[in-house]
Amino acid sequence: MGKSAPRLAESFRPENYKLSIEIDAKKMLFSGKVVISGQKIGRPAKRITLHQKDLKITSAKVIKQGKTGNETIELERINSQKSFDEVRLHSPTLLYPGKYTVEIGFSGHITEQMHGLYPCNYRHKGKEKKLFATQFESHHAREVFPCIDEPEAKATFDLTLTTPATESVLSNTPVKKQLETQDSRLKTEFETTPVMSTYLLAFAVGEIHRVTSKTKDGVEVNSWATVAQSKSHLEYANKEAVDVLEFFTDYFKTPFPLKKLDQIALPDFDSMAMENWGLITYREVGLLADPGNRSQSGEQLISLVVAHEISHQWFGNLVTMKWWDDLWLNESFASIMEYVCLDALHPDWHMWENFAEADMIAASNRDVTSNVQAVKSKVNHPDELFTLFDPSIVYAKGARLIKMMYDFIGEDAIRTGLKSYFKEFAYKNTVSDDLWRHFSKASGQDVKKLMDPWLTQSGMPLLNIHRNDRKLDIVQKRFLLDENSDSQKWPIPLLANKKIPTNLMKEEKLTLELDNDEPVVFNRSGSTHAVVNYESAQDKKYLQKVTSDRSIDSVGRMNLFNDAYLLSRHGSESLSETLELIENCAEEDRDSVWQLMLRPLAAAKLFLEGDEKSEQAIKQIKLKLAKKHFKNLGWDDRETDSPNTKALRVTMTALMLQAEEKTVVAEALSRYKNSRQVTDLPSEQRSLILATAVKNKKADLDKIFEEYTSTNRSDVQRSIAAGLTAAKDAASIKKILEKSIGKDEVVRVQDIPMWFAYLMRNQYSRS
Ligand code: BES
Ligand code: ZN
Repeated sequence: MGKSAPRLAESFRPENYKLSIEIDAKKMLFSGKVVISGQKIGRPAKRITLHQKDLKITSAKVIKQGKTGNETIELERINSQKSFDEVRLHSPTLLYPGKYTVEIGFSGHITEQMHGLYPCNYRHKGKEKKLFATQFESHHAREVFPCIDEPEAKATFDLTLTTPATESVLSNTPVKKQLETQDSRLKTEFETTPVMSTYLLAFAVGEIHRVTSKTKDGVEVNSWATVAQSKSHLEYANKEAVDVLEFFTDYFKTPFPLKKLDQIALPDFDSMAMENWGLITYREVGLLADPGNRSQSGEQLISLVVAHEISHQWFGNLVTMKWWDDLWLNESFASIMEYVCLDALHPDWHMWENFAEADMIAASNRDVTSNVQAVKSKVNHPDELFTLFDPSIVYAKGARLIKMMYDFIGEDAIRTGLKSYFKEFAYKNTVSDDLWRHFSKASGQDVKKLMDPWLTQSGMPLLNIHRNDRKLDIVQKRFLLDENSDSQKWPIPLLANKKIPTNLMKEEKLTLELDNDEPVVFNRSGSTHAVVNYESAQDKKYLQKVTSDRSIDSVGRMNLFNDAYLLSRHGSESLSETLELIENCAEEDRDSVWQLMLRPLAAAKLFLEGDEKSEQAIKQIKLKLAKKHFKNLGWDDRETDSPNTKALRVTMTALMLQAEEKTVVAEALSRYKNSRQVTDLPSEQRSLILATAVKNKKADLDKIFEEYTSTNRSDVQRSIAAGLTAAKDAASIKKILEKSIGKDEVVRVQDIPMWFAYLMRNQYSRS
């Protein structure tokens, strides 16, 4: 059992923080003062306890506001071994419930850990530069100032920053006042924030520039990056942010309460992005796009991240989970809203296909082992969040469950429920049941009863369909790859492709009497988090037909391929049967469906690794599958190509290269040879061409690493990493290892996990 943290919001409720912070960039120190006014609640006590971590407390007093005036009491700091992340302040007299103001002086070190207040390092015009930024979620505000660092303890913030005069400063709200101090530093006062949780406070200080625009409601939207980045690379994300902000304002029927929304690309960032209210922070690759060498997948990534973080401005920022065990209320919703929003803004992207490709795969791949967490799990201390919350579960599975609810109760009920939920809980905190209540009211269905079993139990059900003419016997049990399953039950929306007597399977067994013996496809668009196994040969044959003639829609096909893959891993179907299913589908025209079709092949490859003859056979299958499409598509994008055609081209080129088709390999090598530098290559082809060059020992590794080090574009660095880690020969691998994650320290700390993942994927570098 891990540690469990006492909840400090149970004894003190902050209402406002007046926080001033001074940054000493040279000494990598900060110092400040915080004045917290709030209510002491609970029993009279001599102690006030706040969160803090690694801060030096330089002074502390409390002012009691009484009827006859204010009384100031100096507080003593008590050290306790037992208290982690806390400062306990002691008063000589009892403090009764009522209104108090606590004043604390403090200082601390700026460290490179990418949370709390931290430096981002970059180079500009040959000089090493630093930008300072914050990352407070989940519990790092306490590393910068004493506070009640719990999502429930919402308050307003008045922030004042003192910083170097030549640099720009940003925070959640617009600047209220700015002046130069006597020692030529810049003192910036920001407007009061809305009532919000500490984890959403943020600021950034550095040499940055922006592009700016306005929504139709007059909200100013700015996108920022360091001056080392070209301003034009911010334009894509800024336009997307305006459209996304307008979309959610309308979708939630709830206005964005701030006058401006800033988003900034940070050179060093631990995750991908963070939704701080009014100041969203990103990794550079999550915000910057080169308009001169456009990459469809790069731009789609940016749109997804922007949509995710902007949806949090409502889901998370305006209405916040009471405690971290309901983190899914933030993350599962933001994850589904990405697709709801982009499907509306970019109908030609067919985003629900991308959703199936990303979240259906991630969730069903992860949820099939016995030790997996549920979407909603107990959190005793926020330190546990890191290990407890598996992105495949709290993001992907959670999003899939919400999609299931969408398809079951309908979008109208969801939107009505959301609107009233935001109205009731704006600037407040909630638990899951609050949301269920609003959806139940809007839909007339018992949503809690439907959703709770899915959120609180881990795992996913297997539905076995046994056919006897017009009678179907359906049995559910947990689908597990690593163990036999014990009995477990879910209320399962059947979402069949035709009318059936029951839409919700509540029991372990269900018998359906149908009007005729025509096959039925259950879970028609894959939104129910379940695997369906059709036992009868007639049904199996039907699945082969609908996948190869594409008479079922694309997401439905993806789901059938996903089920076939999982069932073959499970052993209820053979891998060769599944491969056969796929080999009949070479006519498939949707790229996302291809991604699902190729998974059993990848599994087979892994399984047969090292067996030369089998590897050769897999290459032949790939060649056979890709040949025709590749011949039609060729190498280069055309003006008139749809997004799907562009994506399909990348997939087919990759398959031809994996199959080592001679003319295609030769073309890739000649494209490599004819480029002066990596950035000359079209961004979507870059990693494929580099991979081919390095596999054939034709890549100039020194030159490529030179480019890796000198560029400040992380999309370019990512494509180099993806390409070079395809190396096969020992000498190249040794060099790549040394140059990347070895002692050369060329790779930023934030990117080391990516290099590891790529190196582990390659059978020749894995060991
Ligand atoms: N709020 C999260 C980031 C976060 C979560 C930080 C928990 C600390 C603790 C943010 O909204 C997020 O989910 N970011 C994702 C990217 C997103 C597009 C899925 C990330 O950074 O991976
Ligand atoms: Zn999120």
